[in-house]
Amino acid sequence: MISRIEIKILFALAFRYFNLLSSYYIDKILPKPFELHFEATYRCNCRCVFCKRWKEGLKENLRKKELKYNEIKELINQAYDIGVRILSLSGGEPLMKEGILSLMEYAKNKGLITSVNTNGTLINKENVSKIIDCFDIIIVSIDSLNGDKQDAIRGFKDSFKKALNSVFLLKKNSKNNFIGVSTVLNGENINEILEINAFFMKKGIPTFFQPIHNNPANLFNVSKKEYLDFGLRLEEEYKKIIKNYIYPNRLIKYLYKDYYRKGLDFIMNPMSTINQFVCFAGLYSLFVDPYGDVFPCDICRCWMGNIREKSLREILMSRRSLHIKRQIKNRKCNCWLLCSAPVFINLSKVLNKNNLRSNKFVCPHSKSMENR
Ligand SMILES: C[S@@+](CC[C@H](N)C(=O)[O-])C[C@H]1O[C@@H](n2cnc3c(N)ncnc32)[C@H](O)[C@@H]1O
Ligand code: SF4
Ligand code: SF4
Repeated sequence: MISRIEIKILFALAFRYFNLLSSYYIDKILPKPFELHFEATYRCNCRCVFCKRWKEGLKENLRKKELKYNEIKELINQAYDIGVRILSLSGGEPLMKEGILSLMEYAKNKGLITSVNTNGTLINKENVSKIIDCFDIIIVSIDSLNGDKQDAIRGFKDSFKKALNSVFLLKKNSKNNFIGVSTVLNGENINEILEINAFFMKKGIPTFFQPIHNNPANLFNVSKKEYLDFGLRLEEEYKKIIKNYIYPNRLIKYLYKDYYRKGLDFIMNPMSTINQFVCFAGLYSLFVDPYGDVFPCDICRCWMGNIREKSLREILMSRRSLHIKRQIKNRKCNCWLLCSAPVFINLSKVLNKNNLRSNKFVCPHSKSMENR
């Protein structure tokens, strides 16, 4: 069954399509991003093997720099005014951010579709109904059905028990919310992807997976060797996954099947898939980090501005942003994240441009998180 939220998103996006196309081709037209990815904090109670954001969250000077309640409220207002209709929250562990539920309630009342990616360890009987009221879409990260393995991956004792309880609690209390599970496909769980999918689908909970990324710029850190070993072991298993994966409905199957199918190429050689989609980062979506810095996406840390210095509208129309937009058109970067690649692959299909030639992409504004 296609959910109410999926239909709402599709209709809203269809109305936005003309702006997306015109701002893609004509520089002077203000892009009206449809989705804002906001990383509320890099603080986190987990210590995942493939993500080093929690380390960033330990730095006292950065903690002090995080956007405050009223600044986030202003960000929501400005985002809504320029046309954002989906607010996707991530982090760090976003539920650790002070005042975040009240801010999301505010965003939802304003008319935004709200979504959160969480490690699921902080959801309990006491706060579940509030969380259900604040978020339309709640995606919990679960990387294995083996508790010990999940705890080792997440570097947090009982993370599996807690995350699983959260998923069931959310599902039980759901009021038409979209509750899903997301898995990072890595060397430890290749053989489990179908099992995870079948286990949750039986309970009416859709699952998604994204390949592990190795990208120091956004602190998705994996050693090169670990990454390569994983690719070599994966090929056969991946084909089985693609063949047998269960989708919750036809719409999700339509929107995600190419993302999964071509994902193997990305894992084997990330740069080989650079021509697989036109990138709409900065046009369809925008990314704001915990300190108010604006980037086109999570991976490409080309700095567009800071919301403490300029409004979102000014940032989007600045010469710097226009330059970055042109660079992205001829990009040298690539990613296969669930939050961007599936949408961009589908938008590219409509544009009939999923086989673009790319030139050299050198971002002059690159700002690695490690160099702060
Ligand atoms: C950075 S986390 C933030 C939200 C929350 N803390 C969580 O883990 O769900 C967002 C998503 O990125 C995934 N992730 C973390 N490191 C990754 C990596 N190296 N490659 C791909 N995905 C990764 C997480 O599993 C999660 O699904
Ligand atoms: S993936 Fe999520 S839970 Fe794990 S360390 Fe990174 S932010 Fe924390
Ligand atoms: S292709 Fe590059 S700019 Fe586009 S979403 Fe991926 S990393 Fe970001």
